[in-house]
Amino acid sequence: MLRQALLALSTSGPARDAIMATPATRSVVARFVAGETIDEALEVTASLAADGRLVTIDFLGEDTTDPAQATAVTDEYVRLLGRLSEAGLAARGRAEISVKPTAVGLGLPGSGEKTALENIRRVAAAARNAGTTVTVDMEDHTCVDATLRLVGELRADFPDLGCVIQSYLRRSADDCRALAVAGSRVRLCKGAYQAPDGVALASKAEVDASYARCLRILLDGPGYPMLATHDPRLIKIAAARAGLAGRDDGSFEYQMLYGIRPAEQARLAASGAQVRVYVPYGSDWYGYLVRRLAERPANLMFFLRALSSRR
Ligand code: FDA
Repeated sequence: MLRQALLALSTSGPARDAIMATPATRSVVARFVAGETIDEALEVTASLAADGRLVTIDFLGEDTTDPAQATAVTDEYVRLLGRLSEAGLAARGRAEISVKPTAVGLGLPGSGEKTALENIRRVAAAARNAGTTVTVDMEDHTCVDATLRLVGELRADFPDLGCVIQSYLRRSADDCRALAVAGSRVRLCKGAYQAPDGVALASKAEVDASYARCLRILLDGPGYPMLATHDPRLIKIAAARAGLAGRDDGSFEYQMLYGIRPAEQARLAASGAQVRVYVPYGSDWYGYLVRRLAERPANLMFFLRALSSRR
């Protein structure tokens, strides 16, 4: 109930203006977001890399309604990839990037899918020049077919283009089966958006069971699974399944969000596993922040405490 209310807030214009204008929000944002500039994102990336973590960087923004803005976001990613390469952080995919299709134009009326495809193609080409890869984030359920279509088309030229499956969608096991092919980089997450009952599973138990089912399909296949979760139970299930499937540490990775369970990230990395941290930066952090608050009551309490302690 609370989660649904918060997710509704994540797309509300007036709530967005009020929350973004509150100075105390900044301390909470700092926990989940690397900063507003490329320099700040690079600083966090370098420090995670020095600690043996892999990184995927997201330039915050979504639901672009203007073609010029979609081009500006694409330009920012190309600049970021150039800076990662200069800093020696991109080689062998140590730091890659994550792109939201609606940030680069998917939602534009008429030409959205074509615009997003061409913009992601530019980003993927820049990533290849830098020696790294791109993962295409998955947004709400209305974007799934178009996103999978554009990933499928771009993989003809960029076979290492990553995509994302959300276990809360009823269709996800079928999508995993279709994507569990050699060389296919697939991030599996639970899903952070609102979706109607017919499309999404209703309870946390069902979403978790679906995650376990999907991770089995991906780990048993010949692709490269990227298991994005902070859930201790699912991490244990993943480790056991990877062992049963005869996978070595280099053949899959765990992924977690910047600022969430850093001790677990360190523990997994110290055990020899590959751990990639999703590092968002930029000034358009509102939707991302509210989705993090919706995931966990403790995150919401942290936010409310920050607000009250500054009154
Ligand atoms: P869940 O939220 O159920 O938490 C499970 C358990 O993890 C908790 O009970 C607790 O034990 C632990 N935990 C969670 N948060 C914690 C915290 N702050 N501190 C301590 N313990 C905590 N979504 C999407 O729709 N599209 C996408 O493209 C992506 N991309 C993405 C990339 C990466 C790298 C990650 C990690 C996540 C995403 N997501 C996403 C978000 C994802 O769908 C999901 O909303 C969050 O990861 C939260 O789900 P969990 O799997 O962590 O489980």
